[in-house]
Amino acid sequence: MVEQRLNQYCESVEAALMKYIQPERDLGHTKIFEAARYSAMAGGKRIRPALVLEFCRVCGGDIEAAMPLACALEMIHTYSLIHDDLPCMDDDDLRRGKPTNHKVYGEAMAVLAGDGLLNLAFETASAHNPKLPPEVQVQAIRALSRASGMDGMIGGQVLDMEAENRSITLEELQTLQSLKTGALLKAGASLGCIAARATKEQRRAAETYAQKIGLAFQIRDDMLDIEGDAAVFGKPIGSDAENGKSTYPSLLGMEKCRELVDQLTQEAIQALACFEDHEFLAELAKMLAGRIK
Ligand code: IPE
Ligand code: IPE
Ligand code: MG
Ligand code: MG
Ligand code: MG
Repeated sequence: MVEQRLNQYCESVEAALMKYIQPERDLGHTKIFEAARYSAMAGGKRIRPALVLEFCRVCGGDIEAAMPLACALEMIHTYSLIHDDLPCMDDDDLRRGKPTNHKVYGEAMAVLAGDGLLNLAFETASAHNPKLPPEVQVQAIRALSRASGMDGMIGGQVLDMEAENRSITLEELQTLQSLKTGALLKAGASLGCIAARATKEQRRAAETYAQKIGLAFQIRDDMLDIEGDAAVFGKPIGSDAENGKSTYPSLLGMEKCRELVDQLTQEAIQALACFEDHEFLAELAKMLAGRIK
């Protein structure tokens, strides 16, 4: 059931992304769209847009109304990955099972493809949406800007960079991950709730769920960077160790990481109690806990 609905979400998000990432007309600049599409259409798991659409649904909203926000979030996530892989950052050559953007298009084009997706995200989120009143749209755009910005994902990337080749405390690592990975996953829940005009209680519960799965998600990502299979994971194995990254396994060991992922998944599921129809979200949390890609 979880796979089926996730596939449906994936398909509709991908069709919409394909439509959004197109030039208005050909002015000889279409290579940048090709580079942006290369990464955006490379087959991510689409977890963040799925959270937007599903939280919108369980809060009684119209999924169609939330689609531009779901795509905007996925564009920002994709841009963050393109930049994260650059030689000046993690210097990785495999992403979503394909050569990284800069390996194909060169560093300068990859920087611009990331920048392009970031801007397109806000163009998409702010376009006239007959199903979303402007004040709701503004609220969503503000949540998206904050989650992606210096108090969100970008701040987390800075902490991640500055934690290289030194030991940090578990508390510091938690702060780092809550921004680096947590912020965009939490934004998935927030945007879905905003689009559905959810109650405060629903939004709080949704964000708690997303924070818990967000932490579990990064711990699992760190584990797979050690014990994963590059052909399945779609990313190089051993990148964190090579870059001297501070990660959950490096601080706690694999066994403790496994326990923590399970515990966080249980806590995430408990947070869903206020949503009547939460089976998909519960199953999604479990699926992510055991993911190998
Ligand atoms: C990768 O995110 C970056 C992390 C936050 C660990 P995903 O694992 O969601 O990447 P895609 O979108 O499926 O490629
Ligand atoms: C980066 O975390 C997440 C962001 C791009 C914000 P990682 O560096 O661990 O992600 P992967 O492993 O390259 O996907
Ligand atoms: Mg990184
Ligand atoms: Mg990386
Ligand atoms: Mg990683």
